[in-house]
Amino acid sequence: MAHKSTNITPVAHGVSDQERWRRHGHRGGVLWLTGLPGSGKSTLAFELERRLFAAGYRAYVLDGDNLRHGLNADLGFSPADRTENIRRVGEVAALFAGAGMVVITAFISPYRSDRTAARKAAKGNFHEIFLSAGLAVCEKRDPKGLYKKARRGEISEFTGVTAPYEAPESPELTIDTGAITVEQSLRLLIDHVDRNFKLPAE
Ligand code: ADX
Repeated sequence: MAHKSTNITPVAHGVSDQERWRRHGHRGGVLWLTGLPGSGKSTLAFELERRLFAAGYRAYVLDGDNLRHGLNADLGFSPADRTENIRRVGEVAALFAGAGMVVITAFISPYRSDRTAARKAAKGNFHEIFLSAGLAVCEKRDPKGLYKKARRGEISEFTGVTAPYEAPESPELTIDTGAITVEQSLRLLIDHVDRNFKLPAE
């Protein structure tokens, strides 16, 4: 991305990551959920947020449909707009992670290069989580009726039908949400968070 601003000098925080983490009892970082429409991203993200919150984590969801009502309301679904959508979300997620939160993002994020950029923005505290339910399963679920609309030609560039989805090559975690229950998926997610974010008790 081209930098338009000049004469800018970053300023360092006086509070370290470790100090924030100790205050919270866990590291900050990004859980980046990716998968086809209908693969379970929003369902798992919001339920995970609730469970992590109940367990004492500072957790917060950034969800595609929600952010497209505000921060990203000026973006559509062309490849360039999706790239800008994910660029902004990647930067916002990195800021939340820097503040010591466990950020859960729920975006299709169909392009590998965009997810790589989001990973880079988070400076290592990034966990790509692939919800690998295939097209047949997701289209059968069709929770918002959008696959049907896309097949009727009423939505253009719909992921899985008329727009591509590039599956992750080496995600930190893969969950086949077409083969296991929501409860089982949550178990895998919570285990992953406990293993990777919790600080050892002092
Ligand atoms: S992304 O591709 O840019 O990551 P994002 O996750 O923000 O997409 O938004 C996806 C949501 O937008 C879907 O849950 C769906 O409700 C809605 N949507 C509307 N049009 C499309 C489309 N052409 N392709 C995919 N999702 C769409």
